[in-house]
Amino acid sequence: MREIIEELESRRGQARLGGGQKRIDAQHTKGKLTARERIELLLDEGSFEEYDMFVTHRCTDFGMAETKLAGDGVVTGWGTVNGRMVYVFSQDFTVFGGSLSETHAAKICKVMDMAMKNGAPVIGINDSGGARIQEGVASLGGYADVFQKNVLASGVVPQISMIMGPCAGGAVYSPAMTDFIFMVRDTSYMFVTGPDVVKTVTNEIVTAEELGGAKTHTTKSSVADGAFENDVEALAALRRFIDFLPLNNRQSPPTRPFFDDPARLEDSLDTLVPDNPNQPYDMHEVIDRIADEGDFFELQADFAKNIITGFVRIEGATVGVVANQPLVLAGVLDINSSRKAARFVRFCDCFNIPILTLVDVPGFLPGTAQEYGGVIKHGAKLLFAYGEATVPKVTLITRKAYGGAYDVMASKHLRGDVNYAWPSAEIAVMGAKGATEILYRAELGDPDKIAARTKEYEDRFANPFVAAEKGFIDDVILPRNTRKRVARAFAALRGKQLENPWKKHDNIPL
Ligand code: HXC
Repeated sequence: MREIIEELESRRGQARLGGGQKRIDAQHTKGKLTARERIELLLDEGSFEEYDMFVTHRCTDFGMAETKLAGDGVVTGWGTVNGRMVYVFSQDFTVFGGSLSETHAAKICKVMDMAMKNGAPVIGINDSGGARIQEGVASLGGYADVFQKNVLASGVVPQISMIMGPCAGGAVYSPAMTDFIFMVRDTSYMFVTGPDVVKTVTNEIVTAEELGGAKTHTTKSSVADGAFENDVEALAALRRFIDFLPLNNRQSPPTRPFFDDPARLEDSLDTLVPDNPNQPYDMHEVIDRIADEGDFFELQADFAKNIITGFVRIEGATVGVVANQPLVLAGVLDINSSRKAARFVRFCDCFNIPILTLVDVPGFLPGTAQEYGGVIKHGAKLLFAYGEATVPKVTLITRKAYGGAYDVMASKHLRGDVNYAWPSAEIAVMGAKGATEILYRAELGDPDKIAARTKEYEDRFANPFVAAEKGFIDDVILPRNTRKRVARAFAALRGKQLENPWKKHDNIPL
């Protein structure tokens, strides 16, 4: 028995070494942690249960029969993050460059199946040279098996991708189908075709970092939801992020102990909105003052900054926040902000996370670039997402809610449950100046008349009361009471039950 135990220990030791000390050192030299070090940082100490440590590939081509390494380039299993279960796979770049073989894929699929059965998120740590070149189509088949699991798991358990090294070719499509992608600056990249192919096909000269680094994907493409300086920072942030998420679609959002008075008054909000309607202010101020302990986990912070998305807690329970940002493009809705917010709203709805919508929106952005780019279809995404969402929806209009954008931003008409407005709210088809210029075109030559007309329009609509008289706004609240009123609204909605009619699935304008 002792010998068998010794053999087990020796085999385990061998597997833990992956591709050997030299390659581990090379990984460290690049500023990257190894697959196992990453898992250790992500999970609670001592909680990792590894599966399939002894799995090897079955390839015999290109001399592969002689080079079998236990684990086959991916470390899989489950553990806990702050006591809550997650499944994890972490690609080991020291073993065949973390490339994906048939058996490597089967290991990933196994933990994904377990995650679905047992109702826990899947965290994928990606650091791979892509398809295992020696295996050919067997590897491509493995990728497709993972893709299929991603699709089936979508909306059942949260799926999160950490990109911590190369992720190229078709390999990018597995992360792309997960709920969130986080990247590490300077050491990770994602692209469908690399710089060499780009140069051959399009004559463009571009570095890997420019083509698919963290900056590109968090500011230009919006493929990634966040970027971090290094592996340690990224994994610490991921632990914080997981705390906001329910483990699966059957659970309510998690609640954590909180130390912040839900009835806390915030006098500073009374003076946040400037008297001049064209002067901006920072909507983050409102979010921070509503959130428990001012804690906000922002997503896609560097993309489409005219809308803000992320998670807070109110009375300890997770709430998704969507907020127009008057500081950027006056908070206008456009193609990118609509897409960004729509996907976020859909995530919240999949996983029973209530949504708080903060509105200060002058409408949809005009122009050929927007129309040619399909703002109709992309704007409809957000409208659709809000309209189909059955989770509790609390909306607060702080200032402008003009035109179609008023309807879109979780209005009463899209089944907003509790719709509040501050006294500074203006709810109208458009701003007073634009409205007057259309209604009284014949008087445009007379500035006095136009000024009087504009004032008349402002007096009528530059307030929340017309909407409140119609019941479209449930109450006009004092800014300083916002946290208290929002917290009470969500508390009252905890038992909300609402179902959409049966359908196979909807047909959101993609
Ligand atoms: C097998 C691979 C590999 C792969 C890397 N290695 N990629 N082995 N299949 N795809 C091995 C290398 O031979 C090397 O082995 C070790 O991993 C480390 O690789 P290096 O090249 O030394 O590392 P580095 O210089 O950091 O470069 C990393 C890299 C490069 C940029 C990822 O390795 C590379 O370009 N690899 C090929 C990428 C690729 O074209 N993959 C296929 C994409 S198509 P030794 O023994 O020397 O340590 C694809 C299709 C998916 O993925 C389709 C899904 C539908």
